[in-house]
Amino acid sequence: MKIECTIDNKHLLLTINSNKPLNLILMEDVEGMPLNSRCRDGNCGNCVVLMDDEAVLSCLIPAFRLKGAKILTFEGYQKTRFWHDLERAYEDSKNQPCPRCIASKTLIFESLLQMMGKPETGDKGDDVPNTETILSELRLNTCNCLDAEELIEIFTIAANYRRRRRVRRN
Ligand code: FES
Repeated sequence: MKIECTIDNKHLLLTINSNKPLNLILMEDVEGMPLNSRCRDGNCGNCVVLMDDEAVLSCLIPAFRLKGAKILTFEGYQKTRFWHDLERAYEDSKNQPCPRCIASKTLIFESLLQMMGKPETGDKGDDVPNTETILSELRLNTCNCLDAEELIEIFTIAANYRRRRRVRRN
């Protein structure tokens, strides 16, 4: 089937099997897309991408669900200004996810930062997700390189940077 979607801000028309999972599409059909995709059946949580701003396991997203979707991989995300909020949070907290899970955990953090609201739609942008929500979302990735306290600290610092960014823009 033919599917139109946007991957890392590139508008693409893909001709693929409708059930092919997104992680394989990224690795095989989209040039230059490395993905730390291990188990390929929804267990490791190392294949997270943002799909319309929501963190999803790309190995569980069949091609037909991509119609019109906006996909952002970690590589694409690192080219956005939003990456700097998490990059600085990792530096400030002196904690960073390990090389195996940094891509997925970062994108999950970003999906949580997106939950803080979008000021451009009239939202004040300070609706911070609670601890339970943060930890439950982060469980999408099963790597235990950071404990709950460290994860919450990273998110809190990143949320402060994001809030300041928004204040500067308004
Ligand atoms: S590849 Fe392991 S959860 Fe997707």
